[in-house]
Amino acid sequence: MNKLLIRININTHNNKKVKGRKKLKLTNRLLKIASLVTSNKRLADIGTDHGYIPVYLLNKNIINFAILADINKGPLENARKEVKRNKLDDKVDLRLGSGIEVLKKGEVDEIIIAGMGGILIGELLEANKEVAHEAEKLILQPMQAQEELRKYLLNNGYEILDEHLEKEDFRLYEIIVAKYTGKNTDVEDDVYYEIGKKLLENKDELLSEFIDNKIKKYNNIIEKLGNKKSDAILSRRNSANERIEKLKNLI
Ligand SMILES: C[S@@+](CC[C@H](N)C(=O)[O-])C[C@H]1O[C@@H](n2cnc3c(N)ncnc32)[C@H](O)[C@@H]1O
Repeated sequence: MNKLLIRININTHNNKKVKGRKKLKLTNRLLKIASLVTSNKRLADIGTDHGYIPVYLLNKNIINFAILADINKGPLENARKEVKRNKLDDKVDLRLGSGIEVLKKGEVDEIIIAGMGGILIGELLEANKEVAHEAEKLILQPMQAQEELRKYLLNNGYEILDEHLEKEDFRLYEIIVAKYTGKNTDVEDDVYYEIGKKLLENKDELLSEFIDNKIKKYNNIIEKLGNKKSDAILSRRNSANERIEKLKNLI
């Protein structure tokens, strides 16, 4: 994971140096996630680690209250230090525990779960449905198994409200904004679990690069399968070729 860049004593607001303050410069991925939080909403950042997103939003007065939670003591201590350094103690609540199990109904409006696997994110939502279902907005940024997360959301009553791609150091990150509505959503084809429909609707500017990467991935799979002709290999080669055709048709 890329480290946030921290610049010391260079807050030049109104051309004056503000001594003793550290100015956080969020990476593209974190900045994009932060930009999706609605002003004045109560936020929970689950798996907060460094706590950079809520600290950034509180410093900018975009939000006034956040719960920062992590399952591990070390990361939660990182977040605590960041909160103290920024004198935000009275605006945050730090909680040790797994996922959204640390939250009670009605405590927050929006929830970020970023930097974890898509399957784990689904499991965390499942572990406290009461809280997951009442959230006005879930901002989810799976590092892998994005397809599984979309499948979980769309088949468990969540609507995908929006999706974004963000590039950081040559890697494309997928950010999914969802909300529970109680209605499942059918997709016409499994390819839409891999390429979120909102990315297509929005004509995301990184979409063709994203799809190209997927096509390369399937071509690598086909190459690795070699010339062997067992039924299993033939079937895997066929499904990879089929997916490549579908991906090409999306562009
Ligand atoms: C890779 S870091 C991501 C930090 C930050 N959210 C980001 O996107 O940059 C993952 C964090 O999630 C925490 N974590 C892992 N499993 C968790 C769980 N079940 N509940 C809460 N936090 C968890 C880890 O301790 C770690 O701090």
